[in-house]
Amino acid sequence: MTDSLQDLRRCTLAIDLGAARTRIYAKRAGLIVDEPSLVAVDIRNGRLVAVGGLAERMAGRTAEYVRVVRPFSGGTVTDVDMGTLMLRQLLGDKARRAWLRQSKPRIAAAVPFGVGPQARRILSETLTELGARQVELVHAPLAAAVGSLIPVGQPEGSMIVICGASETQVAVLSFGGIIAGEVLPVGGNAMDDAVLEHLRIHHDLILPHQGLLPLHQVLSESVAEPQANTDVHGKDVSSGLARSLSLETAGVRDAMRDPLSALVSGIGRVLRRCPPDLVVDIADRGIILTGGSAVLPGLDNMLMAVTGMPVHITKEPALSTVLGLGMMIESAEATEPVAEAPEPRPESAVRAASQELA
Ligand SMILES: Nc1ncnc2c1ncn2[C@@H]1O[C@H](COP(=O)(O)OP(=O)(O)OP(=O)(O)O)[C@@H](O)[C@H]1O
Ligand SMILES: [Mg+2]
Repeated sequence: MTDSLQDLRRCTLAIDLGAARTRIYAKRAGLIVDEPSLVAVDIRNGRLVAVGGLAERMAGRTAEYVRVVRPFSGGTVTDVDMGTLMLRQLLGDKARRAWLRQSKPRIAAAVPFGVGPQARRILSETLTELGARQVELVHAPLAAAVGSLIPVGQPEGSMIVICGASETQVAVLSFGGIIAGEVLPVGGNAMDDAVLEHLRIHHDLILPHQGLLPLHQVLSESVAEPQANTDVHGKDVSSGLARSLSLETAGVRDAMRDPLSALVSGIGRVLRRCPPDLVVDIADRGIILTGGSAVLPGLDNMLMAVTGMPVHITKEPALSTVLGLGMMIESAEATEPVAEAPEPRPESAVRAASQELA
C-alpha cells in the first residue's frame, strides 16, 4: 500500500477492477477503458471468445460450451488467468506495446479498504502478469475521495461511501488517512437480486440481469416525480414464453428496502465508531456517495432521514475511484503526500478510448 505521491506519479496506468466494470486510466490520455468485467471462453479448448461489452451481450445467449465468467469481485481477483486475459484484450495490443516499451511500466491499482494480504498479492501478481514491473496499491476510498474533489489532506473529517456492484465501502477520512471504515457485502447486485425475486414471486416473470438496466434508468431519473409504471420484458415462469408487463415502480422500490436498510445500518455503525469531532465535520460537509449504485433511488433520502446529515452524490459517481487514481498519477507535485490531491486538470478528464498512450 502506498501513500507516496512520488511513487504514484511514476505510474502510467491506473486501474479499478470492479465486479461489474473494469476501468483503466492512462497518463495523459484519460479514461481509455470502461467495460463490463466479463470474459467469454470456449470451455472445449480454453480459447477466448469475447471480453467486455461483447461478452456481456453473449451472457445467456450462447451455446453450452461458451462460459461467461467474472474474473473480479469487490476489487479483488478471483480468476487470475481470465483476469489477465481480459485486461490484455481490453487494453489492446497497441496501447499495451506502447506501455511495455517504457523502461519500468508501473500501475496504480485501487484495493478495497481492509482487504487481506493474500488478495493484495493476487492483485499484484495479475498486474505483473500483464507486464507491470511495479504495482502501487491505493485504498479505493482514498482514490474515490480524491476523484470526488474532497480535500482529503486537511484535518477535517469526511465520509465517503462507494456503492459498487458487489459491495459498499464506507470510510471516514481525515489528514489523508482512513480513520474508520467497513466493507459491507451489499451493493447493486444485492438490489438487483431483490428486484428479480420480486418479479418472479409477485409477477411470475423471469428477467435476465441486463433486462434491469432500463428499469434502473426509470427509477433513478424519476425520484422527484416517480413514474408509476414502466414496461419490462421477460419470460413467463409457467409457460416459458416471452411476456411484457407494465410494472408498478412502487413495488420495486419496496423490494429494495431490505438491502437498502442493511446499507444504511452499516453506514450508521461506522459513524458511531467515529470520534465526535469528525462526526461534527461530516454533519457539516455531508456524506459523499459515489460508485455506480450511488444513484439507487431512495438511498440518499433514506440516509438523510436516518443520519440527519446532508448527503451528496458525486458527479459521475461510477468513475470517481479511477479518476481519483488518474489525478494521483497525473500529479505534478513529486514531494507532496497522496492526501494533497492536486486540483483536477480539465484535460485529464474522461476521454474517448481512442488515444494512444503517451
Ligand atoms: N442508473 C442506475 N441505477 C441504479 N443502479 C445502477 C445504475 N447504473 C449502474 N448501477 C449499478 O451500479 C453497479 C455498478 O457500479 P460500479 O461500476 O461502481 O461497480 P464495480 O466497481 O464494478 O463493483 P465493485 O466496486 O463492487 O467491485 C451495478 O450493480 C449497476 O447495476
Ligand atoms: Mg468499484
